[in-house]
Amino acid sequence: MKFIVTPSRLTDAEIAVPGDKSISHRALMFGGIANGRSDISGFLDGEDCLATLSAMEAMGVSATRHSKTELSIEGVGLAGLTAPANELDLGNSGTAMRLMAGLMAGQPFESTLVGDASLTGRPMGRVITPLESMGAVIRSQSGKPPLVINPGGDGAADLQAIHYDMPVASAQVKSCVLIAGLYADGATSVTEPATTRDHTERMLRSFGVNVTTEGATMRVEGRQELSATRIEVPGDLSSATFMILAALLSDSADILIRGVGLNPTRTGVLDILRSMGADLSIENERMAGGEPIGDIRARASKLRAIDVDERLVSLAIDEFPALFVAAGSADGTTRFSGLEELRVKESDRISSMAKGIAALGIDVVETPDGALVTGGRFTGGHVNSHGDHRVAMSLAVAGTVADRRVTIEDVQPVETSFPGFAACLQRIGGDIAVDEAEAP
Ligand code: S3P
Repeated sequence: MKFIVTPSRLTDAEIAVPGDKSISHRALMFGGIANGRSDISGFLDGEDCLATLSAMEAMGVSATRHSKTELSIEGVGLAGLTAPANELDLGNSGTAMRLMAGLMAGQPFESTLVGDASLTGRPMGRVITPLESMGAVIRSQSGKPPLVINPGGDGAADLQAIHYDMPVASAQVKSCVLIAGLYADGATSVTEPATTRDHTERMLRSFGVNVTTEGATMRVEGRQELSATRIEVPGDLSSATFMILAALLSDSADILIRGVGLNPTRTGVLDILRSMGADLSIENERMAGGEPIGDIRARASKLRAIDVDERLVSLAIDEFPALFVAAGSADGTTRFSGLEELRVKESDRISSMAKGIAALGIDVVETPDGALVTGGRFTGGHVNSHGDHRVAMSLAVAGTVADRRVTIEDVQPVETSFPGFAACLQRIGGDIAVDEAEAP
């Protein structure tokens, strides 16, 4: 499948984007091990979250879909999951696999976690190490999926509480350890080297679990039961970023995106774009389901190059593909550094984006932990997503301001996080066509 984007004239519009991916995964997992029925609205009906839903269903959790975005989960209680008959296929989702590894480590049965080619190449040692120190037994292919958790599991999966000093700033690792900590005796704690998204802590609290945060350390006491709750999933700021970017790069558009999550552990992208001169404002700020949300207004802006502050990297971790495109149209040379984690995302995002914008005529020098991007004009041409949803969407937005047509190959993975992306870009005036044909 490919996107074909032609130079576009964006229009003023009010839109909404699909639900937050991180929050949707957690709602399914925590709803599934809670006592009682949890109602979820704003759910992201994307492939990644549907993989988590199937995995939970395969372990005895029943879900009723009321619509694409509304569902109820009948929780089975902390100790109520049952052994799945087959491998749990988590598709493209690193979040699903790493959080699920923590959940499975606490179960008295064996499970096997598998994923697609991209996920099978991603490092799992970062969750295997702390889980093994809690007493889990995990078999892997040199730290890569498939993961066989509790091989031969026969009813004894007693985990020990630990303190873990995380070597990498990763919300997935933090969440994995805290979830396993629910199944351990005593208090499990994690210290992070930089602030990462705190959706796990917030959502566990809304399920009635006592999780404390003291500075960079999160702590949870084991064996706490979760009480079912209602979860309103906000719009995903990571998806909204593509629409914000399109508005900023346009000639004159003024776009309002309603109901977007504005958790301060996620809003690094807004700070970075503002320091590049972006005209962004937040309206109607409120709380929904323990998370701050609001409407984001983005207006056409003249962007300038900056040295991106490394302290913002973990707060904008998924937004760098879009920021590379912003830098590609900014005045001057933007310096990205401290981005080593991007090399182990759905693709090596430094390399995928450097190749993508270079193919569209932008001067870019890749460095081991980032890139130097000198703004110019996107010319047009053929680019590849490298199987990465966010690379595909970033390059599609670049196409709206290119001199000629941009074709982006291999865009099927966009369905993992932003179903309806092309229609959403069309709503703001983006001239994007979807060619369903398989690449030859
Ligand atoms: C996520 C954490 C981040 C992010 C991913 C979602 C989460 O990964 O890149 O898209 O939901 O916890 P890391 O924790 O590995 O940085």
